[in-house]
Amino acid sequence: MKITIGSDHGAVNLKEAVKQVLAEFKDVEFKDVGTFGTDAVDYPDIAEKVCADVVSGAADRGIVLCGTGIGISIAANKIKGIRCALCNDVFSAEKSREHNDANVLAMGGRVIGFGVAGKIVRAWLTTDFEGGRHERRVNKIMALENK
Ligand code: RB5
Repeated sequence: MKITIGSDHGAVNLKEAVKQVLAEFKDVEFKDVGTFGTDAVDYPDIAEKVCADVVSGAADRGIVLCGTGIGISIAANKIKGIRCALCNDVFSAEKSREHNDANVLAMGGRVIGFGVAGKIVRAWLTTDFEGGRHERRVNKIMALENK
């Protein structure tokens, strides 16, 4: 699985911690699109870079991080084809895959610790979409993009 990851300055440390978790998975290849320091950057720019890879197919999924996870998830969800789930707990991460087929995960670097984030990422990577009745609903979400 190919993953593109990015964060603003509010979550650079969390990004490094998440990359260590991604490295645990033999079948995961990841690309980091920044930011790489503590200078302030605008989270919509990071969301755009990560989601471009998901939409083009260069990445199977994306991970976006900012201080709260809120701004970058809102930005990601403005991009056609993206279903970004802000998950600061494991249950939400599992459900975002099972029910929503989330293709981008958002978390808040100022909200959760590295341990919880690691559990969230592991759950999100290993949980499959359930399909069935959820597929109809996900199709309706995607149809909203064309209304
Ligand atoms: C940046 O200061 C901060 O606003 C950003 O990381 C995020 O929390 C926005 O939702």
